[in-house]
Amino acid sequence: MRVLGIESTAHTFGIGVVENKKILVDERIVYKPKEGIVPIEAAEFHREHSAKVLQKVENKINFKEVDLIGISTGPGLPPCLYFGLEFAKKLAAKLKKPLIGVNHCQAHIEIGKTLTKPKEPIILYVSGGNTQIIYENKGYKILGETQDIGIGNAIDKLGRAAGLSFPAGPKIEKIARKGKFVLLPYSVKGMDLNFSGVLSESIRRLKNEKEEDIFYSFQEVCFAMLTEVSERALAATEKNELLLVGGVAQNKRLQKMLKIMCEERGAKLKVVPKEFAGDNGAMIALTALVTYKDKKIRNETEVRPNWRIDNIYK
Ligand code: ATP
Ligand code: FE2
Repeated sequence: MRVLGIESTAHTFGIGVVENKKILVDERIVYKPKEGIVPIEAAEFHREHSAKVLQKVENKINFKEVDLIGISTGPGLPPCLYFGLEFAKKLAAKLKKPLIGVNHCQAHIEIGKTLTKPKEPIILYVSGGNTQIIYENKGYKILGETQDIGIGNAIDKLGRAAGLSFPAGPKIEKIARKGKFVLLPYSVKGMDLNFSGVLSESIRRLKNEKEEDIFYSFQEVCFAMLTEVSERALAATEKNELLLVGGVAQNKRLQKMLKIMCEERGAKLKVVPKEFAGDNGAMIALTALVTYKDKKIRNETEVRPNWRIDNIYK
């Protein structure tokens, strides 16, 4: 079965095509604002570039061979979600193919599972808007999560305060390599996390301290918090595999800290490949395929800006 997936929930407009679980095509374009993301501008960016992305896909595959179309209907920024759905509905009508709406968070997990083949893992999903520790058992259960902002957004805000453009994650990672540790607040409450306190303190201290020290320490503290809750989740569930997904999964320091923790307890760490860690259309196509096969999963063709992953089953 050949599925075309469309991603348009935030900064990325992407179209991917999969044949069963094999990724055939992945085309995308990313809106990179100087300041923070302005949702209407992001949607306008997608509107402007969508035809070009679609054309690139059409140059690679024959649309007549597509059996199903998937669109991510949430969670995400409403203007981007509305544009994506409108685009997907038009394409589905033109190609006369069924359309399935899928959850964006599930898609990050689905592509991680497809490409690394873990066995019943605990999932650490770290991206711009989300930070969750997830356990899959007849649906997704959230064992712990951020109580304020996602780790990726926290990283991007710290970067913006230091004059770095979006996405700041890779730039901060590089600069942090030269830094030394300074004390910053650490906030874990049971299985939940808070990033806004450590973020405000880091931004405040950027004025008088070395940027590399703040970046290094911010990463050390936030990633230690993520490692701590991941370890607790592994221990509580007696699982021995951890799957790391989402845009922030690309960070080598985070990977290393999780790897040390996993090795110390005889567990395996699986990391989504770098090129598919951030938003892309292929992950939406894979999830549409799973949703099509599992009739119990919601197939929403209305946008759901706050759609949680623990609410994807009917
Ligand atoms: P969500 O999945 O929650 O809707 P999103 O779709 O905006 O969020 P992704 O595309 O999965 O997020 O990830 C983007 C985030 O990943 C950005 O915040 C970016 O700074 C971060 N990121 C990318 N590379 C790195 C890196 N090397 N280190 C840390 N963060 C990174
Ligand atoms: Fe994402």
